[in-house]
Amino acid sequence: ITDLKGKHVITWQEWTKEEIETLLDLAFDLKRRKMLREKHHLLEDRTLYMLFFEESTRTRNAFETGMTQLGGHAVYLTPKMTQIGHGETAKDTVEVLGRFGDGIGVRNCAFKVGNAYMRELAKWSKIPVINLQCDLYHPTQSLADLMTIREKFGPNLRGLKFVISWTYAPKYIRPLSMPQDLILLMPRFGMDVTLAHPPEFYLLPEIVEQAKKNAEEAGVKFEIVHDMDEACKDAHIVYAKSWGPIAYTGSDTEGADLIEKYSNWVMDGRRMNLARPEAIYMHCMPADRGIEVTEEVIDGPHSVIYDEAENRLHAAKAILAATMR
Ligand code: CP
Repeated sequence: ITDLKGKHVITWQEWTKEEIETLLDLAFDLKRRKMLREKHHLLEDRTLYMLFFEESTRTRNAFETGMTQLGGHAVYLTPKMTQIGHGETAKDTVEVLGRFGDGIGVRNCAFKVGNAYMRELAKWSKIPVINLQCDLYHPTQSLADLMTIREKFGPNLRGLKFVISWTYAPKYIRPLSMPQDLILLMPRFGMDVTLAHPPEFYLLPEIVEQAKKNAEEAGVKFEIVHDMDEACKDAHIVYAKSWGPIAYTGSDTEGADLIEKYSNWVMDGRRMNLARPEAIYMHCMPADRGIEVTEEVIDGPHSVIYDEAENRLHAAKAILAATMR
């Protein structure tokens, strides 16, 4: 067990594998304690500020409920509810909140803005800054995903084929943070990673380079393919979701023509059958049902989406308890 008090959670790249293992152990322990209804008020009298620049169902409620279950309190904030909307700087915001409370979580997915805002907060912050999703990473989701994979396949993940595939979903353009976080984290835990997307929907080159390096260091495979069928073949884990082309990320209208070219990139039963019989289907949600994934897959026997969503709570509590203790 390592001491993680006060450590920022902006990307797992800044955490050792041993530190992440500590969080996973803690998450499983907190899940067990909740199930047994054992009181676990590890954060009595502690306050978390949750600053959301965009909407959320899972992340906000996992962290807010998590703070309650840990005996503390969470405050939901938006730019409009605070002076951030009038231009108050990250420094002034975090210097003040840090005098009141014990941690600050932030969601800001604006392309080329969100992560930079978090870095600015972290530069001045005396309390841990927790990334609740930015334009580059979504660490609190990927930790819950890793926990879910461990639950389904056991602690040794070496040799498993993890696929993260782009899917068609024209309703709104999503950030790159989810696939980027997954390709960075999963190789470090022994999985062979396949990244699948149409050519125009590539991820940030520097992140892909780092993911390749992580895979090399872990002695696992990393490949990029532009064919969804090829990606799904023999997969143990199929994580299929949409994201935007880099040039348009952050816009909810541009990029539509490009997306329409790939309307056949849908996660359906035929593709699920290309994976291994014991394969699981994952999605961080919200999912565009019937558009990016068919009902037979998302509600089918391979789907673990609700376990995955539940684990957001346990993973959030582990992060909070470890960093705000
Ligand atoms: N997966 C996820 O982050 O969901 P929310 O946007 O609802 O928080």
